[in-house]
Amino acid sequence: MQPQYSKNIAKLIADIQNQPNLNNTLIYQIVDQVSLTENDVESFYCFEHPDYQSYGRKLIFDNGNFKILLMSWKSGDYTAIHNHGYTEWGCVYYFGEATHRLYRLEEDSLRLAQKDTYYKGNVASVCGDLTHLMGNGSNKDFSTLHIYGSNSRTSDVSKDAVVYLPEFEKKVTTMGSAYLNMNQELMLSETHFNTLSKEALTDYFYLVKPYYERNKLFQILNLMENKIQNLSN
Ligand SMILES: [Fe+2]
Repeated sequence: MQPQYSKNIAKLIADIQNQPNLNNTLIYQIVDQVSLTENDVESFYCFEHPDYQSYGRKLIFDNGNFKILLMSWKSGDYTAIHNHGYTEWGCVYYFGEATHRLYRLEEDSLRLAQKDTYYKGNVASVCGDLTHLMGNGSNKDFSTLHIYGSNSRTSDVSKDAVVYLPEFEKKVTTMGSAYLNMNQELMLSETHFNTLSKEALTDYFYLVKPYYERNKLFQILNLMENKIQNLSN
């Protein structure tokens, strides 16, 4: 069944479909002109997501070459560190104050590149090799609208997204989800990965700690604490 879209969401979908060759400048302009409000997305809220998902993730629209999702963030909800697969253009529209980290890969080692806070009304560009993490470090729920698109693919634009799981010394690929402590069935492939700078690992641990505490996953917290301890020695 086709979901009920607000006028603004229907306009957003139509405007994207009417542009044959999109890029990050054009998608920014389209999103900016639509003037989204919480009323447009509230029917896609998913704050009551299961504990094994570290944030709420709901599909609004997918026609193959682009998709729109709504992410719902309650306090302490975070993604793992991830990129966006085959995404060639896209953006995130923020409905609240979000914590954001940008990483860069240097000779297969992941380093912290930038710490940011995004605020309500901000629009941030996304492409496939953007490696980042985002979440809710505040005590107020909010949502974000995500658009991922491609001019060359006709299906699964965010397939083969790379997700880094330093607590398990793994790098996995998924269809686009980037949950912390994710279920095995979401993983398309899995390789060993343990090269994170001390700064990146310490910061990551500080950010994701509330999620693991909330879910009483103390074994994983101990694992991470030991790892950081070993780096200090
Ligand atoms: Fe992302």
